[in-house]
This record gives sequence, structure tokens and C-alpha cells, in this order.
Amino acid sequence: MQNPSARRPLLLALLLASSACSESESETTATPPPPPDDPSLSLHQRFADYFPIGAAVDAGSITTHSDLLAPHFNSIAAENEMKFDALHPSEDTFQYDTADSIVTFAQQNSMAVRGHALIWHRQVPAWVFQSSDGADVTPDELLARMQRHITEVITHFRGKVGVWDVVNEAIMNDGAYRTGDETEPDQQSKWYAILGERYIAEAFRFAHAADPDAKLFYNDYYDYLPAKHQAIHDMLKGLLDQGVPVHGVGMQCHLNIAPSSDPAHQSYQQTVENLEAAIELYASLGLEVQVTEMDMSLYIGGQTYDESNFYTPETFTDAVQEQQADRYGVFFDLFRKHADAITSVTFWGVADDNTWLSEFSSGRQDFPLLFDVNHQPKKAYYRVRTF
Ligand code: GLA
Repeated sequence: MQNPSARRPLLLALLLASSACSESESETTATPPPPPDDPSLSLHQRFADYFPIGAAVDAGSITTHSDLLAPHFNSIAAENEMKFDALHPSEDTFQYDTADSIVTFAQQNSMAVRGHALIWHRQVPAWVFQSSDGADVTPDELLARMQRHITEVITHFRGKVGVWDVVNEAIMNDGAYRTGDETEPDQQSKWYAILGERYIAEAFRFAHAADPDAKLFYNDYYDYLPAKHQAIHDMLKGLLDQGVPVHGVGMQCHLNIAPSSDPAHQSYQQTVENLEAAIELYASLGLEVQVTEMDMSLYIGGQTYDESNFYTPETFTDAVQEQQADRYGVFFDLFRKHADAITSVTFWGVADDNTWLSEFSSGRQDFPLLFDVNHQPKKAYYRVRTF
């Protein structure tokens, strides 16, 4: 005879199944429950039905972080090694060794490569904008130099780099074009100063001529700002209307653990709703959307920090880890919701022991990624893959 208590789970299961049945009978369509997380899946395997998962790497991290890169990521971008100054330091010198080592690593590990970034106002050597007498080059000369750079670089990587950030950061937070007259010198664009806004269309045309199979992206930051995403939309619509070959928009997504509490600070507007508005606007143009540089700083915009309250591994407590995990989670929920438009999500780094956010302001450590300084998964790692 069967032990009656052993039958209880079966009875309970039958009861639950019958109540689930009567509920679904009253609905027109029954939604199947999502498959639970399978911990044996790596990060990119977990997202296989949604989008590839990428990481920015450098010449060192393809070795020091290969323990995480090889299993968890199926796309990479070079953090600095494909920028203008790295590849084309003087007029007749192109150097590809470091970038090639990154591409070889990607090929050995079956990873896609995002090429980053052809035309940007930063990390461009001074010779690009100067004639032999030290004055600004003429617009025609700058256009010829731009064409040569784009053509040589894209041709070198043709067949190996499928996606290029062709133009990076051409729009300011208020929606105006980035000009040569911005107050801060490192915010000024010489491309715009010499060529005006046409440098953007020309860059895309040169890129397309060099590799008609490459997907060409416009990339920028703070896409959650309404004035900025509207301006990016309007610029891209104008380019598409003129037949300029643009295929996608990159949203950098350098986020913070909370929006600013100061309405005057840009990150006051760093909300899921505002970023969703950007995704919907870009997708309405028929463009692909990619998250290209995601990380999540522990520091909140508009607050003052000094050495007494810089985070350390000790003060990055469980509670702060939870807060970071929750915010990563809601943004990843948004990305999965828009997986029809979003064709890749790339983190700006691999683990917290190697992040530009800690290098940027000396002495201020940050912990913005999914893996900790010892390469162990953080709470945020578990949260983004729990759905
Ligand atoms: C911007 C650029 C990146 C990188 C980061 C900081 O987001 O697009 O290439 O330089 O700044 O590391």
C-alpha cells in the first residue's frame, strides 16, 4: 500500500494544474512559463534567444580576462586599439599589430567584432587637422584624409569586423551639433569646425564604399536625454532621407547606480522610461539598436565625493551590490523587451579589476561590471540572467 503522505505532493500538483487550466480557459491565449535559468549556460548562451553579449577588451585583457571572455561573451570591441590615434598615428603610418591580436583572439573564440570608432573628436592625432605650416587644413584636404583613414582601416579588417561605429558623439546634450566652439577644449570637434555637419554623411559614404557588407552605426552617450535622442533621431532621419548608408544606432549606456537627485544634472533623466523612448524612436526609423558600452558606476551624478567616501571593496557592501543588481536588472528587462530592435549588448569591460571608470579619476575605484575584481560573478550577474 502506498504511503498516503507520499501522495500529497501529487494531489497538490493535480490541484494546481486544474486551477491553472481553469484560469487559462478563461483567457484567450495561455502564455507558457519562461524557461528557468540554467546555471550551466554561460552569459551569452543565456541570451541566445535575444542578442549577443559583448565586452570591450584591450591588448592585455584578452589574456588576463580570457577566463571570463571565452565562455561568457560572443562579441568584442577594442576599448582603444581601433581608434584613429592607435591605427594611424602619422600621415603615412598605419599600425595594426595590437588591433590584429584582438581580432585573432575573437576569431579563435568564435566572437563577432564591433569596430570602434572611426570618426570621433577625441583620440585623433593633431596632424590630421594641420597643414604643413601648422594652420588648419582646408575642407578638401580634411575630407581626403578622412576618406583615406576610413578606407584603409575598413579594408584592412574587411570580412573580420562586421559592424563599425562610423561616427561617435556628434550631438551635444541639448541636441545641438558638437561644434568647434564648445567651451571645454576636449569637447570641441575639429571635424565639425572644418567641414560642418557634412562630415557625418561623408564618413558613412566612405565606410560603405570600403565594405558594402559592413553594418554602419552612429554611436553616442546619454541617449536617455529627451533633447538628445530627438536630435539623434532627426539627424539620422535626415541622413536616411538623403540615402546615406546608416544601419544602426549605438547607445553607449554608461549608467549610474541611481539617477541624480538634482534636476539640473543630466543624469536626473537617466530612467528606464527615457531610454525606452530612445529605443522606440530609433527603431521607428527601421534602424538596428545596439547597447555598445554598458557599465554602471556606483557614483551618482551631482553628488560630491572625496577620498573619505570613495568606494572600496569593503564599502561595496551587499546592500550596494543589491542596488546595482536591481538597476542592471530593470535595464536588461528593457533590452529583452526590445530584442526585436536590439541586436547586441556590449559591456565596457569584463570585470571590476579593469575598468576605465577606476582609471579615469585617479584614486577613485569603481565597480561597474558583472564580474568582481577576482573575476567572480556579482549579484548583478545573477540578476540580469534571471528571467
Ligand atoms: C566614450 C568612448 C569610448 C571610451 C569611453 C571611455 O564612451 O566612446 O571609446 O573612450 O568614452 O573609456
